[in-house]
Amino acid sequence: MIENYKEAFEKTRLAGTIASGALDEVAKIVKPGIKTDEIDKLCYEYINDHGAFSAPLFYRGFPKSCCTSSNHIVCHGIPSEKILKDGDIVNVDVTALKNGWHGDTSRTFEIGEVSIKAQKLVRTTYEAMMKSIKIIKEGIHLGDIGSVIQNHVEAEGFSVVRDFCGHGIGQKFHEKPNILHYGKPGAGEKIKSGMIFTIEPMINTGNFETKTLNDGWTAVTKDKSLSAQFEHTIGVTKDGCEVFTL
Ligand code: MF3
Ligand code: CO
Ligand code: CO
Repeated sequence: MIENYKEAFEKTRLAGTIASGALDEVAKIVKPGIKTDEIDKLCYEYINDHGAFSAPLFYRGFPKSCCTSSNHIVCHGIPSEKILKDGDIVNVDVTALKNGWHGDTSRTFEIGEVSIKAQKLVRTTYEAMMKSIKIIKEGIHLGDIGSVIQNHVEAEGFSVVRDFCGHGIGQKFHEKPNILHYGKPGAGEKIKSGMIFTIEPMINTGNFETKTLNDGWTAVTKDKSLSAQFEHTIGVTKDGCEVFTL
């Protein structure tokens, strides 16, 4: 966050538009039979072609340009030779770094025909993110955001992952504050106009507990239940917020 936030918003808008543009291209190719490495290649090329860098590439040793997290993978799945099949769900998480500023966004895609439960999970996760975005404006508390998400998700019988959260973003990929996707109304710090952060709820059909695999990145649900996620990067204003990754 910087004092003159007009400039910060312009730069984040540009990075965010590139990141969401990459996901629009991913949407066209995610079909049964595709390898997650093909998604990675498309993201790498789209972001490069738009004069930006893929922020995940080499971030703390991460080996690829995006995260591809399917089925019981909660987040940080590493693109590989893995082939997506009919009935899978897969989250693709893309972060573009353009002119020194970051835009971070993800969507969960359905591969072919997925189960009713998976459809409900994906829909509920998206709704929870959008519902929380609608209440954002200067003066609300961080706990208000978490509580809207948690209430929406738990009413459908799903659970909110606790081990990962949204984050401030700007010239750094991850910065203060942490944006928890659960909480109590009125709790936590008040948000101010000019703040830029992500909202990226990870929602499970089973328990919220996760564990990280031996590759040091891939986070999965402990109970092997399905997990979905959506992410937007937003900027807070006096009477609302701007979504930079539409
Ligand atoms: N894009 C993820 C987020 O939403 C972070 C990925 S870090 C990586 O914060 F190294 F795994 F790419
Ligand atoms: Co993020
Ligand atoms: Co992300």
